[in-house]
Order: sequence, then C-alpha cells, then structure tokens
Amino acid sequence: MTGPQRGRPHRDRPQRPQTGPRKPRRRPLDPARRAAFDVLQAVSQRDAYANLALPALLAERGITGRDAAFATELTYGTCRVRGLLDAIIGAAAQRSPDTINPVLLDLLRLGSYQLLRTRVEPHAAVSTTVEQAAIEFDSARAGFVNGVLRTISTRDEQSWTAELAPSAEADPIGHAAFVHAHPRWIAQAFADALGADAGELDAVLASDDERPRVHLAARPGVLTAAELAAAVGGEVGRYSPYAVYLPGGDPGQLEPVRAGQALVQDEGSQLVARACALAPVEGDTGRWLDLCAGPGGKTALLAALAAQSGARVTAVEQAPHRAAMVSENTRGLNVEVLTADGRDSGLQPGFDRVLVDVPCTGLGALRRRPEARWRRQPADIPALAKLQRELLAAAIGLTRPGGVVLYATCSPHLAETVGVVADAVRRHPVRALDTRELFAPADALGNGPHVQLWPHRHGTDAMFAAALQVL
Ligand SMILES: C[S@@+](CC[C@H](N)C(=O)[O-])C[C@H]1O[C@@H](n2cnc3c(N)ncnc32)[C@H](O)[C@@H]1O
Repeated sequence: MTGPQRGRPHRDRPQRPQTGPRKPRRRPLDPARRAAFDVLQAVSQRDAYANLALPALLAERGITGRDAAFATELTYGTCRVRGLLDAIIGAAAQRSPDTINPVLLDLLRLGSYQLLRTRVEPHAAVSTTVEQAAIEFDSARAGFVNGVLRTISTRDEQSWTAELAPSAEADPIGHAAFVHAHPRWIAQAFADALGADAGELDAVLASDDERPRVHLAARPGVLTAAELAAAVGGEVGRYSPYAVYLPGGDPGQLEPVRAGQALVQDEGSQLVARACALAPVEGDTGRWLDLCAGPGGKTALLAALAAQSGARVTAVEQAPHRAAMVSENTRGLNVEVLTADGRDSGLQPGFDRVLVDVPCTGLGALRRRPEARWRRQPADIPALAKLQRELLAAAIGLTRPGGVVLYATCSPHLAETVGVVADAVRRHPVRALDTRELFAPADALGNGPHVQLWPHRHGTDAMFAAALQVL
C-alpha cells in the first residue's frame, strides 16, 4: 500500500513532495464512470435530478448496453447512499467532508461506492478515480484521493458501519438510518408513521434502495387488466383492478401506452383515484373535481371512471406547464382543465367528489429519486403542511354537503398526513370515513380510519389517503 495509513490525516492540498502514490497516469475515465461523475456533479452543484439527467446524458453520448447499466448503477447507487459514503470518507480522511473540494468529494464518493457496494476490483476502483483526480486537479490531490480510497478499501461496508453507526441499542432509529443510508429525520418520520409496527423500519428503509417495478393502469372501459397483461407480457396487479406489473423495458414504447389505452401509474396512485370514485356519495350529480391535478395521472384514471357514470371532471393545476400535461394526459376524456391556485380557483362550490392530491415532501417515493433523501430538509415541512391545510380547506369548501373529499399525499410524514386531516376535522364540518374500505382488496392499511400504503408491504409508493364526508 502506498497511500497514507489510517490514523494519519490526509490533505487535499499540496503540502510536500509525494512519497506515494507514484506519479499517477492521466488516463481519462471510461464512458460509464465519466457519465456517472458528470451526473453526480450536476446533482450536487446544480440540483439536477439524477433520474432525468442520466438517461439524457447516456442518450446524448450514445452509451448503451453494459456501459449504460454500469453508469446507472454507479450514479443511482452513489446518490442513494451519499450520506453513508460521506461518513466513511470523513473517517478515512480524518476531516469533515464539508471541507473537501466538492468536485473531489464527488470523485471520492464514486470511488468509495465502487469499493463498498460493487464487485469492481478494488485496484480498478482506486486507480480510475486517482487518475481522474490528477486530470481534474493535480498530483497532490490525486495522492489525497489515493490515500483515502486505499484506507476505505482495507475494510468492507459492514466493518465501517460497525465502527461509525450509532449504537443499535442506545439509538435504534439512528442506527437504522445510518446503515440504510437515510438522514435520521426521515427514518424517525417513517418510524413515527409505522407506530406500533416500527419493527418494520429496516424493511421500509431497505425498500427505498430497490428500483420500483413499473406499473401500468389499463384504462377502464377501454381494456381490462388481463387484456393489457397479455398484450404487454405483464402480470395482473394484486390490488387495483386496472393494474399490470411489467417485467422490465421501456413502458413508453408499449403500443397500449402509446395508443392511450394504458398509463404508466404506480398501483398506489391507481387505488387513490379509484377510492375517490368509489366513495359513498348519495345522489351524485356528476360534478367531480381534481384540485391538484398536474401532471394528470390520477385525473386520467378518475376521468375514465367518471365517464362510466356520465360524470365530468374539472382539473385544477397551478403550474401552467403541468396544467398542459393534464390536458395532454386526459385527451379524449371529459375533463375541463383550469390553470389556477386551488386555494382560490374561482370555481362554483357544489362538487360531489373532490380529489386533493397535495404537493408534499415526496418521502413516500424516495425509491424513484435517488438523491431526494439527501435533498429534502425537515425545514421544508412547515410551509408544505400549511399549503396542504389550505388546499384541503379549499377542497372542503368546494364540496357539497354529502359529498366526499379524498385527501391524498405521497408522504407518510405525520405532519403531512394525520396532522393535516385532524386539523381539518377540527375546523370544518366533515366526518372521517373508513378509507380502508375504499382500498379493498388491499390490506394491512393501518389502524384506520385513514390509509397508509408502504412499498415494503404493498409494492407501491407510500401514499396516504383520507376520505372526508362533508356534513
Ligand atoms: C402531488 S402532485 C399531484 C399529482 C397528480 N395528482 C397526479 O397523479 O398526476 C401536486 C400538484 O399540485 C400542484 N400545486 C401546487 N400548489 C398548488 C396550488 N396552490 N393549487 C393547485 N395546484 C397546486 C403542483 O404543481 C403539482 O402538480
């Protein structure tokens, strides 16, 4: 080993002539690692979304096949476990990662991810990263990278976490957060939402590292889930009568999707739209509303269900480009799209059914956005919860007595779920319905009356839903 030994601090600035490594060669990164490195920098420096930036970059550079798969594994994996890698890098470098040049830090993350979480030969993981550091910086900083990565490579991930994670006995949530590479506050939020089932915390956190299976929704009245499954080689879903699970591939290329006979939609979202249509409403007059509609996935399913009883859906969306997506996604259906703030839409009250799928932290869909768990902050919650309460209040105000509001959010955080609903029940003339009945045959939905879905239980995003009847 030529790099500094563990126990001696490393520096990323030139201090003295290098005793090791030998002068690094300057061979540029291979296309897969280069793509991963570029996307990591776009994520950390320009707030890019890895799941949008990477496919675009792979297409632009013509990277396909095994190289594309390797770039994807490196990029998404490194983004997901960033906090864990930073803790290990900090320990190996004996300095806070915050004090390391951000570009160098991204390189270290890429190298350490390969060492700890892939089958890449340690020598290759270290040498490719060191060579890139020499190109980006200089031989002194290449030496720093070499030292840190060699120190990391002396142990496996388990050994590092055994040393660095909080004690499982004294701080079980902190421990679970560390080993599953989540910020502590998110693990705490999941544990709070699981309540008596907090023993499932490890499973919830682990499910955020799994790539979600692609779900399709067969458009009601157009084709059945069985027909869709046969057409695309998929499997009929467990809970939603419209759901089909895809084995893989690009769903956008499938003929039923291109022809508008099916949508790409998580089964949890399908259940939410269906619950809104199923809720008990006496004398439904056919005025249905979706108050936070963009990009229109749930609107499309709701409108297809509405069509079966001759109802019409009004869809409100504040962001113009997302309102345009609602129009696109509901083409051919009886939907009126309005670009407006749902809190002040100017609509006449008297709707029979109102879906309000509020903007949220997205903690229920972390598996879809590799970097999201590190980007979201607890400080985001108060402003979101205020907006959620205001949108729910507006939804209640637009619903006629006897009508039903279906409050939904893709987060299990209690401040965004039961906190918002309890506030509405206190302030407005509404009664909570047993929402679980509207989600049958799905089970294990919590103690009610609301519904909480979980990826590790249901294979869906962690959607929350509460049906409120207006008195
Ligand atoms: C969780 S998303 C809705 C997803 C949608 N129901 C679907 O299934 O495709 C929340 C949406 O609310 C929109 N939004 C945020 N603030 C709003 C407001 N004050 N009024 C109306 N829409 C708003 C956001 O732009 C976003 O499109």
